Amino acid sequence: MNNKTLAILKPDCVRKNLIGQVISKINEAGFKIKAMKMVHLTKESAGGFYEVHKERPFFNDLIAYMTSGPCVPIALEKDNAVEDFRSLIGATDPSKAAEGTIRKLYAESIEQNIVHGSDSDENAVKEIAHFFSRKELLENYSD
Ligand code: CMP
Repeated sequence: MNNKTLAILKPDCVRKNLIGQVISKINEAGFKIKAMKMVHLTKESAGGFYEVHKERPFFNDLIAYMTSGPCVPIALEKDNAVEDFRSLIGATDPSKAAEGTIRKLYAESIEQNIVHGSDSDENAVKEIAHFFSRKELLENYSD
């Protein structure tokens, strides 16, 4: 079983100076950071990452938002990582997210929802590869 997932601290998280608080929640929940960087996505990169949503009515707005400022992709490791991370962040729409979840605490809207989490093990592998080379994943952690 894959024990990794990809988180992205989105541009609204960076703009609101919430990087530290969100990473604390992630660490407190038992996730180990395997790789992390700050990047300002191009339209091409954001469009490729969210290709699965390209026919959705919100796609253009989503790409505009994700390219509006820097974001912080993070490769995370934990047993049952994908499911546990989705529980930690809560529902896509923060008004429907459970109390105590990251989106309930910090997100403003269904689009500007602070953080992304992979939705399956298969996508986690692809999404981590979108942002991190094998070298970056292997070299930065000796544990
Ligand atoms: P994320 O988990 O990164 O996956 C796709 C993103 O599209 C989602 O978070 C939101 O930022 C955005 N999104 C999903 N559904 C909607 C919607 N109905 N309206 C606007 N944005 C959405």
